[in-house]
Amino acid sequence: MKELSLNILDIAQNSFTAGATLTEIILEESADKLTIRIVDNGCGMSEDTLKQVSNPFYTTRTTRKVGLGIPLFRQAAEQTGGYITIQSTKDPVNHGTVITGVFNKSHIDFTPLGDIASTVCLLAQGCGEGDMVFTHKIEGKETVELDTRALREVLQGVPLSNPDVQLWIKAYTTQQYEK
Ligand SMILES: Nc1ncnc2c1ncn2[C@@H]1O[C@H](COP(=O)(O)OP(=O)(O)OP(=O)(O)O)[C@@H](O)[C@H]1O
Ligand SMILES: [Mg+2]
Repeated sequence: MKELSLNILDIAQNSFTAGATLTEIILEESADKLTIRIVDNGCGMSEDTLKQVSNPFYTTRTTRKVGLGIPLFRQAAEQTGGYITIQSTKDPVNHGTVITGVFNKSHIDFTPLGDIASTVCLLAQGCGEGDMVFTHKIEGKETVELDTRALREVLQGVPLSNPDVQLWIKAYTTQQYEK
């Protein structure tokens, strides 16, 4: 993929599909390292799924045979000398998944983040009834943040998918990055 933000979209989509009521996307960036963590409280994976999830020919989808979200995320990290880790549990009380990718930014095969503001917009639209918190901590800079829970309070029933809300999210996020 040309942009890491598209990988993020894919991984977060899994969280939404897993019925997460809260999905957190946390980016931590220093001069030469980027860590991307997606934390959800969705249904979680069985041990069997967890074992097979790094195999590109494994998926619980029925429409086609290959699941590519996780393998592509892994590839993007590994091609920079980084790695991913996956923790997941179907525990009835504490179910959920944490996927972490560590990237070496200075590696020649590092994929740039790309249009992250548009991705934040799409995430806010994609989380449906659930909520999404996006946090991007950049060393020496102000943290970029969007929390749909806070946004919903202000919106008083106007859906996050509303075109005006979408434009606002895009502008709000872009503005934070420009600071
Ligand atoms: N956050 C998650 N919560 C629960 N199950 C997950 C989660 N992420 C992945 N999975 C499981 O792992 C499988 C593989 O995920 P992956 O994203 O690689 O492929 P996919 O979602 O099946 O297909 P694609 O991403 O190509 O549309 C999923 O089908 C799902 O069963
Ligand atoms: Mg997927």
